[in-house]
Amino acid sequence: MKNTPIGVFDSGIGGLTILRALRRTLPHEHLIYFGDTANVPYGGKSKTAVTRLALDVARFLESRNVKLVVVACNTASAQALSALRKQLTVPVMGVIEPGADAAMRATRNRKIAVLGTQGTVESQAYVKAIYKRNKDIQVFQKACPLFVPLAEEGFENKPAAELIAREYLQPVQDSRADTVILGCTHYPILKNLIAKVMGPQVTLVDSADTLATSAQQFLQEHQLAATSGKGSVKLYASDAPDKFTRSARMLLHDPTVKATLKKLNV
Ligand code: DGL
Repeated sequence: MKNTPIGVFDSGIGGLTILRALRRTLPHEHLIYFGDTANVPYGGKSKTAVTRLALDVARFLESRNVKLVVVACNTASAQALSALRKQLTVPVMGVIEPGADAAMRATRNRKIAVLGTQGTVESQAYVKAIYKRNKDIQVFQKACPLFVPLAEEGFENKPAAELIAREYLQPVQDSRADTVILGCTHYPILKNLIAKVMGPQVTLVDSADTLATSAQQFLQEHQLAATSGKGSVKLYASDAPDKFTRSARMLLHDPTVKATLKKLNV
């Protein structure tokens, strides 16, 4: 079991920011990543649709004999985590709880803002996770749906991206939150831009490193961690694998990775 892979999935390239952190923290592990590029974005879809898609992807990963499924998508974590946990036989880890933990550690003025997709914001998953830890925190949420296509298209340094970011982030600045959760795995791709607009006094929480540490703890506690040998990465995309490969090479800083097309029957 120790040498079986970890399965990771997202609606597209965003979860590669999580894969990158997992690879750094768990260098001996074999990682299988599925980007559901045929169905991106998940952010505006109903809970029923997101759950159906997430189950389909997770079952594919399960069929690859994974020892753990990491839901590297906030929308799927917010809307489908309990269904995944009920229906899969392997353990499932989402990104919301590690992100909430990291934000709780970071805030000084007890005001936290959450940026996410429409689905994540409407699910209130972060609000619930934060209140579970401390009811006295003020939580402000803002859906930023245009950030996903900007990240997918590699527009993070274009003037259009800055205009959109300024529009979305004005009310976040007005909320006076000192900590902002990047509650969508695509948003770390725009991290420099968001940091520029929000200013140096605001801490940006990207759940990738926290999630990687939680995964490491989980594997160690359950005697599932691979302790020797070189890990590997296998990428699948449900559509346009060549485009996905180009993004993955850039985001993982690894020119050797290549995505395989894997269509799912949803
Ligand atoms: N990566 C997804 C997330 O973290 C958002 C992208 C999408 O809308 O599919 O929520």
